[in-house]
Amino acid sequence: MNVVYLNGAFMPVAEAKVSAMDRGFLFGDGAYEVIPVYSRRPFRLPEHLARLRHTLEGILLADPLGEAEWTRLINEIVARNEGEDQSVYLQITRGADTKRNHAFPARVVPTVYIMSEPLVTPAAAQRESGIAAVSAPDVRWLRCDLKTTSLLANCLLRQQAVDAGCVETVLFRDGFITEGAASNIFAVKNGVLLAPPKNHLMLPGITYDVVLELAARHGLPCEVRNVPEAEARGANELWMTSSTKEVLPIVRLDGQPVGTGRPGPVFARMYAWYQDFKRTVMRGG
Ligand SMILES: Cc1ncc(COP(=O)(O)O)c(C=O)c1O
Repeated sequence: MNVVYLNGAFMPVAEAKVSAMDRGFLFGDGAYEVIPVYSRRPFRLPEHLARLRHTLEGILLADPLGEAEWTRLINEIVARNEGEDQSVYLQITRGADTKRNHAFPARVVPTVYIMSEPLVTPAAAQRESGIAAVSAPDVRWLRCDLKTTSLLANCLLRQQAVDAGCVETVLFRDGFITEGAASNIFAVKNGVLLAPPKNHLMLPGITYDVVLELAARHGLPCEVRNVPEAEARGANELWMTSSTKEVLPIVRLDGQPVGTGRPGPVFARMYAWYQDFKRTVMRGG
């Protein structure tokens, strides 16, 4: 059975219990991270912990542990669970109050939870045939750069894709791509990779950074700028990226083919670079 960490102790997941008065449960008042682990090595842990710090600062929640202790606990969770490749999830909520009150309690101890699941990357068939997506207006709040557990809007948006038999929902705000319900979105037009700029309207993805680094390293022209909806719909290629999905080609958007309706040649190159990077860097060579 999976071993998890909760508030100072390791235990089987079935024994992990939190208070019904926890503000994570009542208000979605918390921060989280998902860290992919390859060959038992957490990938870009300092970057994930920096993003966690950014979220905690953004929601006015003091980091209860600090980088060294997070690193120790994450490595221990990886060691205590099965599998060379894992997906570590961590969550910090503001803790349990004695009564329900929107304003923060004066004295409260944050709830800290860490678990690990097997890292399941997309099946080859999905990558080879590409995925279908729908689009929707981005109705979320204006701090999408924070990785908070208040994910109801993301859940509703992802469900729209699933209900339409698709994998992801591409979000547009004020006529531009922001990101996906649980991924970042890239476009390719005339051989140029187009990436929406990091700002408060999207999560700064760790995979997003990897894709831009690989593009730069291999000389793929790239523009980081706002991508208008019309340009997205007329793109030669669209991709979604995340730590668990890696890079996936979107070949249909709202029932219309993207480009040729098949995974494109730029995707094929990026996918090869990504797999090479995984072998040589993420797994430590
Ligand atoms: C809304 C959103 N954007 C982007 C991403 C991609 O981030 P990362 O590459 O760090 O997994 C995620 C990951 O789940 C996400 O939920």
